[in-house]
Amino acid sequence: MYDKGKIIAGLIIGMLIIMLPFWLNIGKTRKLPDPKLSEKAKLAEKCILPTDEMRSAHQVLLVEWRDLAVRDGERLYYSEYNQKKYEISLENTCMDCHSNKKEFCDECHNFAGVTGGSSPTCWNCHNEPKE
Ligand code: HEC
Ligand code: HEC
Ligand code: HEC
Repeated sequence: MYDKGKIIAGLIIGMLIIMLPFWLNIGKTRKLPDPKLSEKAKLAEKCILPTDEMRSAHQVLLVEWRDLAVRDGERLYYSEYNQKKYEISLENTCMDCHSNKKEFCDECHNFAGVTGGSSPTCWNCHNEPKE
């Protein structure tokens, strides 16, 4: 009843049509963000919180820091992870280690289209590191 050859040929043509958009997109895909650590960060080895937490929730830590500093006048932050105290400061702490803002923060933010990154939301008031 069915012609096996035709069915297989049909399947192959169907597959080709489905795959075509993927092949046409090869070479057009956007490069994934690849944030680079500064020499200072490499030496420090660890961030303030575990890497996966920093990756997904650094903005939460920054808001916490701002509230501690502005509302409570608190200037030191104790990190359980590093058993170490850090000065609560975007400029003197985060950007001291991550002084290569363009290659680090902006590398992700430009990709993710985040406004807090290279756009001036934070850097209107806070100083960007001099690179
Ligand atoms: C309208 C100006 C303004 C903008 C915009 C702003 N800040 Fe601030 N921020 C301040 C001021 C003023 C302080 C208090 C500084 C102090 O007490 O020394 C502060 C304090 C902080 C602190 C704690 C202390 C310090 O010096 O780092 C953090 C962290 C912080 N801001 C993060 C951010 C982040 C992240 C953004 C962007 C999402 C941002 N701020 C945007 C004005 C601003
Ligand atoms: C003492 C140096 C130092 C300080 C201070 C520091 N970091 Fe980091 N940060 C690092 C290092 C080292 C890594 C990479 C850790 C790893 O690879 O496991 C890192 C990783 C990160 C990551 C994840 C990067 C990725 O590839 O996923 C983010 C985001 C980040 N830091 C933001 C911040 C912010 C925001 C602050 C301030 C609240 C800060 N860092 C303070 C050294 C530092
Ligand atoms: C590994 C990639 C990565 C790195 C590195 C990184 N960020 Fe982000 N950042 C993001 C992403 C993704 C978001 C958006 C998160 C969301 O919308 O939930 C974000 C959001 C933020 C926000 C909140 C922005 C807003 O408009 O609400 C701030 C502030 C911020 N990042 C600061 C920094 C600073 C300062 C650095 C460098 C020290 C940094 N980030 C490094 C990926 C990164």
